[in-house]
Amino acid sequence: MDGMTRTKPFLAALGGEVIRPAPLWLMRQAGRYLPEYRALRAKAPDFLAFCLNPEMAAEVTLQPIRRYHTDAAILFADILVLPFALGHPVTFEAGEGPRLEPLTTRAQLDRLDMARAVEVGAPINETVRRVRAALPADVALIGFAGSPFTVAAYMVEGHGSRDFAAAKALMYGDAPLFDALMNHLVHATIAYLSAQADAGAEALMLFDSWAGVLSPAMFDRHVIVPTARIAAALKARHPHVRLIGFPRQAGGSLIAYAEGAGVDAVALDTAVPPAWAAAALPRNVTLQGNLDPLALVAGGDALRDETEGVLDAMGDRPWIFNLGHGVVPQTPPEHVAALIAQVRAKR
Ligand code: CP3
Repeated sequence: MDGMTRTKPFLAALGGEVIRPAPLWLMRQAGRYLPEYRALRAKAPDFLAFCLNPEMAAEVTLQPIRRYHTDAAILFADILVLPFALGHPVTFEAGEGPRLEPLTTRAQLDRLDMARAVEVGAPINETVRRVRAALPADVALIGFAGSPFTVAAYMVEGHGSRDFAAAKALMYGDAPLFDALMNHLVHATIAYLSAQADAGAEALMLFDSWAGVLSPAMFDRHVIVPTARIAAALKARHPHVRLIGFPRQAGGSLIAYAEGAGVDAVALDTAVPPAWAAAALPRNVTLQGNLDPLALVAGGDALRDETEGVLDAMGDRPWIFNLGHGVVPQTPPEHVAALIAQVRAKR
């Protein structure tokens, strides 16, 4: 570990140290709940162009750092930038969420182009370089990607879904094609995250937001195994880079994930009892989480009590305070300030 790393509480906690007050950042900490985000976003032609504009993306990455001095900044981008960069049609319609061409054939898979991804994704690395140069000395930079399963689920389904029934129909009905897509995404994700590490990202996070729709056997096959492949490849190339995994709604598979996915930290979703996680998950894994984002919307006593519940459960484990899912657009920015004051007052 280099000298720089020791000065950053977030990286120390990822490295296994118990840091109190707990280092803190919030998933989706840049975004529509901030007026300064909305002002800049209004100037971009569309959301993907916004993500791929290093000047704008670096600015919105830094906005929550200026307001709150969180212990980590997360690159402003989206998990669907990677399939877009690979040449798969992706659009974001206002108020509708992402729309993708549903991938159901080998021909569509064969069109995915790694060389194109390197070129189209290049502005992301420029954003990383700019942010890293601008950050305060004690704030770490997180790069990220979607996990292969969650990205594949969007690519096959074509949009968000409660159960991803179409994605699972392909997963069960044409396993060779689904496996080939997953394999392609594993390689693309390694290259994409490796480039972010080369550009200055000190930690990398894999968002597996839809891992919870899978059966235990499919969770092992499409979440734990591919994550472990990505982790092994990234660790071989970047021994100092730390990895965080977010297998949302993993249920009882969370233990197998923490033991087998090869990540340094596991991000807990809102439904995981934090005291249970502290007792049940391997000691060498840092935990991150897991305040209900809707308690942050509510504020007041509800926010105070829910926050205290998470803080009390952390015990003597390495822990990074965060939400159990992303900040939602209706969050009052002053509630975020109150939350951070409470976490930082805790010894
Ligand atoms: O501050 C940060 O956390 C960094 C930026 C970030 C975004 N998306 C920006 C964004 C990150 C880390 C993501 C991850 C992401 N994107 C996930 C995983 C985390 C999760 O929330 O489960 C997923 C599933 C996506 C896909 C996605 N992107 C959806 C479903 C949507 C539409 C719904 C929504 O939340 O708005 C997006 C759009 C998106 N990504 C916005 C932002 C700020 C809003 C678009 C806009 O401002 O016009």
